[in-house]
Amino acid sequence: MPRVPRPHHVASTAQRATTRPPPPIQPSIQQQHFKPNRAPTPTPPLQDSITTKDAPPNPYKSRALPWAFATLLAAGLGFYTTRLVIELRKPCINPEISLLTHQRDVSARYEDTADAFDSEVGISETLMGINSLRKELARKCQGHVLEASCGTGRNLGYFDVGPQGRVESLTFVDLSPRMVELCMKKWVILHGTEMPSANLKRGLKVRFRKGSVISSIPDVPVEGEEEGKRGYDTILQTMGLCSTPEPVELLRSLAAHLDTGNPDARILLLEHGRGDREWVNRVLDNAAEKHAEIHGCWFNRDIGALVEEAAKGAGLEVVEGRRRHFGTTWVFELKAGERLRREGNSKQGEQRPNEVKEATSWASWLGWK
Ligand SMILES: C[S@@+](CC[C@H](N)C(=O)[O-])C[C@H]1O[C@@H](n2cnc3c(N)ncnc32)[C@H](O)[C@@H]1O
Repeated sequence: MPRVPRPHHVASTAQRATTRPPPPIQPSIQQQHFKPNRAPTPTPPLQDSITTKDAPPNPYKSRALPWAFATLLAAGLGFYTTRLVIELRKPCINPEISLLTHQRDVSARYEDTADAFDSEVGISETLMGINSLRKELARKCQGHVLEASCGTGRNLGYFDVGPQGRVESLTFVDLSPRMVELCMKKWVILHGTEMPSANLKRGLKVRFRKGSVISSIPDVPVEGEEEGKRGYDTILQTMGLCSTPEPVELLRSLAAHLDTGNPDARILLLEHGRGDREWVNRVLDNAAEKHAEIHGCWFNRDIGALVEEAAKGAGLEVVEGRRRHFGTTWVFELKAGERLRREGNSKQGEQRPNEVKEATSWASWLGWK
């Protein structure tokens, strides 16, 4: 008999039968014997593969991570609070450390810390709202602007330098060459190297100088008759008085470079120092020496007293003075008082001495030294 070929569908059915999945596994006799007397739970059909979804949920596993995190957080907070309480209760170990005479010159530290400066102060400044104060002061700058102790240029992005801007020139000065370099790089990142630029005010001049603002403030960048004869319309300094061994001399030098012929000329300061609570100052005094060694800044100075002393000597008037953060953040707006205006105006039209010597000679002329 000729072999009748099986139709294809029969063959595949047979094949399927041989590869069919095994029947559900039956519990053993022993298990059946001890099984409680209730309806059998339907066994789920076996599947081709087992995924993690199929595993029964582990009630501890899902909570283990949050528990570990919460425990770590609680331990950290506990440790931090204990340390804080210990620090707050410590008596002042060296009460004289707030005096200038007991504070070493640490201004050279910035040359080493310049590269890490932004990342070190960035988070705390954002949390404390310091950036909005920087913005507020930089936005007030107009005309020929000097930024003293400019550091890495943390105010750089806030100046009104656009096509309709009120700033005519920007001069950045810092004692640390590395700081000035970083400040310049920041300018290039923000505004490019092209001058003039369509995004910047026409005729805007920008300069970066290494040197001390106590002894070497450059002349205002004007040509012609006014060259060497006029001061800056705005002088901005942020967090600079903490970093120099001669904060009063520094302020006097700034006053000597303010345009006394302009009634709107201002010195704007954003500084940090002693607070208005006894416990805050105790903490600052106890930590001051170590902080100064590492960061190059004495954060326990009485900024109000320094500004007052300098203003009195230089003939400056305090237009506004306010404090924040338990009194540790200080904002000042200063202008030339009547005496400085009179003395300054009588000097108008005279050639100013060369820039390196000018701070000293102006200072001695005004009877400050
Ligand atoms: C705490 S940093 C502040 C930098 C920047 N103004 C800011 O707000 O981030 C202090 C800066 O003051 C500079 N400095 C200290 N004494 C100076 C002086 N006599 N003349 C110019 N810069 C000075 C330091 O080099 C440093 O860059």
